Amino acid sequence: MSQTISTTENKTRPQSAAPKQKAELEVFPEIKIPPRVLMGAGPSASYPEALRAMGANTLGHLDPQFVEIMGNVGAMLRRVFITKNAITGAVPATGTGAMEASLSNLIEHGDEVLVLVAGYFSNRMRQMAERMGAKVKVIERQWGTVFTTDEVRAALDEMSNPRVVALVHAETSTGVLQPIQEIIELAHSRGALVVADAVTSLGGCPLYVDDWNLDVCFSGTQKCIGSPPGLGPITFSQSAMDRIHARKTPVQSWYFDMSLVETYWSDTGAGRAYHHTAPSNALFGLHEALRMALVEGLENRWARHELHSKALTAGLNTMKFEPFAQEGHRLWQLNAVKIPVGIDEAQVRSRLLRDFNIEISGGLGPIKGQVWRIGVMGYSAQRNNIRLLLTALEEILSDQGYPVERGAAPEAAQHIYDAHDKAQEQNISPDNAGLGETIGAEDVAQGIARKG
Ligand SMILES: Cc1ncc(COP(=O)(O)O)c(C=O)c1O
Repeated sequence: MSQTISTTENKTRPQSAAPKQKAELEVFPEIKIPPRVLMGAGPSASYPEALRAMGANTLGHLDPQFVEIMGNVGAMLRRVFITKNAITGAVPATGTGAMEASLSNLIEHGDEVLVLVAGYFSNRMRQMAERMGAKVKVIERQWGTVFTTDEVRAALDEMSNPRVVALVHAETSTGVLQPIQEIIELAHSRGALVVADAVTSLGGCPLYVDDWNLDVCFSGTQKCIGSPPGLGPITFSQSAMDRIHARKTPVQSWYFDMSLVETYWSDTGAGRAYHHTAPSNALFGLHEALRMALVEGLENRWARHELHSKALTAGLNTMKFEPFAQEGHRLWQLNAVKIPVGIDEAQVRSRLLRDFNIEISGGLGPIKGQVWRIGVMGYSAQRNNIRLLLTALEEILSDQGYPVERGAAPEAAQHIYDAHDKAQEQNISPDNAGLGETIGAEDVAQGIARKG
């Protein structure tokens, strides 16, 4: 007698399933991502190479191929951080997670910690240190300005045993680049280790972890590195690891405890030990974004950020926008400008998004409504984006009755590019032209590794 095998599906699926599924499809249609031009405080656009790699099939964290990829991510991060630190990798979290990992490993309950607060993200470091039970001393400065070494010295003099100094290298909320070298030397002379937030600086401007003797430095993937948000590049010096190994109490966070993570990131001889399931596809993306940074060359990449910031600033100057950050300390990758009185800033941003697909950022905290923050980061740092934004701003601002000379802003930016191109041409000797040509920063930003 033949037997009919009924599948579980047949048994369990109610008659009315089809219409219900149809209804669900209507409620939750497939996502369609608009082609945004990301020129805000981050994320910036991801490199196509990174996105393509992320679409590959997932690998297990013990797969030898994956182990090799992860090793290379560490090796490339060492080059980008410019360090030989063995413990260099990416925590499976955004920049805030990397911040938490940095501070929680170095701080023990009751430790004296100095935090330099002149913006939104340095204030976040203060809050974390306080939650970790540290005796936090804060020196505050007006947003948009930098700390002097004397101010830090005076603060350290008031502390009996400073263990950690925490600061932000590139403050995204204000567009300020804080000089940190002398502060690091000073902190070390008092026995404190230094944690620097390089979420916005890594890959966008000079940052020398070893030369500056930085103890812990962390970043995010979504700014000048150019892969999607989700990972937190981080590096720990030997002094930092020694401090961690000598802790009296375990790191409060199991997940971020570097004494556990180190056997996972670096093969210490006994083989890699499982710690957590690696976010493999996110790491594929970071791998490719880092490769693009190295193909371009770090110095070329810094120069590209500088160039586009100059072009943007030239354009904004034609519209009489004043920079927010202290002169001499302005970031290339995050340009904060004051919003002239009478402009409906939220409407400008929403029109930029609606009519031009461009995202820029408004102000945070006490400067909400007072500034725009325009990102020139990673793959977003391209001339077409700069010119498009300037043209769009001219149109929207003149619609609001703000006096602009239409066409002047993109033209001013173009002058900067023309001067740059001319200087480049003059630097290329006929012997070097053609064969052996360097890969232009623009090519890399466009995803072209080599001219055909
Ligand atoms: C300087 C700085 N630090 C920390 C963070 C936090 O990073 P995330 O938003 O990736 O958690 C940001 C994010 O914009 C930042 O700009």
